[in-house]
Amino acid sequence: MLDLTILVGTMTGTAQLVAQEVELTLDDDQTRVRTQLMDGLDASVFKGGRLFLICTSTYGQGDVPDNAKGLFASLCSERPDLRDIRYGVIALGDRTYGDTFCAGGRRFDALLTELGAQRIGELMLHDASAGTMPEELACEWASGWIAQCRQALKRAA
Ligand SMILES: Cc1cc2nc3c(=O)[nH]c(=O)nc-3n(C[C@H](O)[C@H](O)[C@H](O)COP(=O)(O)O)c2cc1C
Repeated sequence: MLDLTILVGTMTGTAQLVAQEVELTLDDDQTRVRTQLMDGLDASVFKGGRLFLICTSTYGQGDVPDNAKGLFASLCSERPDLRDIRYGVIALGDRTYGDTFCAGGRRFDALLTELGAQRIGELMLHDASAGTMPEELACEWASGWIAQCRQALKRAA
């Protein structure tokens, strides 16, 4: 049984909807999925698990959403050793914001890598200006991603 925790950073609920659909797609007799909003979380959330999926939007000038700021700051200040952690990223954004496109997800990716965690697969980037449904693309992406996770974790065992 693979245990996956999806951590959700959102301002207006899109990332939460995406995470819920991904949970419905991935949760089966081989994978147990838990989805948690980032509100009130700190670095200790990574102590409880091994495989995480960060699902976050972008706000301000390429910032993480307000409900993700505490977790992000806690990781920056506490700098836990995350070498046992594997993760993936679903980053929601909008290309009309130019250089800060999907920066919230990219910032989490850079920070987790810096702390020793190993990313599995490429980031999934969603562009809200493209007119595509983020939950549809995310579920497609997540099916491939979880297969990659199984292979990587089998190799590591
Ligand atoms: C005020 C505001 C600022 C935003 N800033 C950015 C940004 O800098 N870069 C980006 O890629 N998207 C940006 N976005 C787009 C959102 O990240 C995108 O619409 C996302 O799907 C929202 O997801 P949420 O409902 O989970 O918060 C911004 C949206 C708003 C309303």
